[in-house]
Amino acid sequence: MTGYWIQDVKSIFPESTQFVGFDNIPEGYPPLDPPLEIVKQNLVDEFPTEWENNFDFVHQRFVIPLFAESEVQPVLRKLIKCMKPGAWIQLVEMDFKTPVSEPLEACQAAQKFHELTSSVVSDPLASTKLAARLNEEGLADVGYKTVDMIAGSSHPNPALGERGRRNMSSVMAYFQSVSSAEKVGMTEQEWASLPKKFEDEMSKYKIAVRVYFVWGRKPVV
Ligand SMILES: C[S@@+](CC[C@H](N)C(=O)[O-])C[C@H]1O[C@@H](n2cnc3c(N)ncnc32)[C@H](O)[C@@H]1O
Repeated sequence: MTGYWIQDVKSIFPESTQFVGFDNIPEGYPPLDPPLEIVKQNLVDEFPTEWENNFDFVHQRFVIPLFAESEVQPVLRKLIKCMKPGAWIQLVEMDFKTPVSEPLEACQAAQKFHELTSSVVSDPLASTKLAARLNEEGLADVGYKTVDMIAGSSHPNPALGERGRRNMSSVMAYFQSVSSAEKVGMTEQEWASLPKKFEDEMSKYKIAVRVYFVWGRKPVV
């Protein structure tokens, strides 16, 4: 819950671009520079009718794996409904299952990160299925790319490594806030020291997560 994406794209999209950001818990975000704001909207509820066929670009990040398998397609349909004909959708989601940190045997906290996140989300591999789902919905030019995103000191760009470190720490904090030591078979002490251990590993090892970037275009009929 950083609001990074909307702030970043504002700096590269044309000045006249209007943005609508939403989340079920908008109060979880830090204040954004006006006119940017995050409004309250649940992905499973009806969207405002004025959103229908109204967007040139729809972006959704780090939320789909929280949904049960049966809920994903209806959620994607809602997002697709917001797109104008010819508009693009971009989905960015982590693969919570596949460990890509190195050396893996030394990265105990990173391994716990995978265990914790996989035990919370409904489908840890939801990211790997998104391109097929967009094809199923009849989108054109569907494609995807995976990037193993490095967080911390091993990133070749120190500023991006630092941002990745903060991001991963906040992802860990989010998942710890919705789980417990007991649920992942850890002692209270191990649970409490997990964020610090993860931080240490991000400064010592190559801590990375595989992220899927998936896109598609709404056909012009
Ligand atoms: C890991 S955070 C990602 C936040 C943001 N998309 C980003 O990339 O920084 C997951 C977010 O999904 C939101 N969320 C969970 N279930 C939701 C739902 N049913 N509708 C809308 N947002 C939801 C949570 O409130 C949380 O802010």
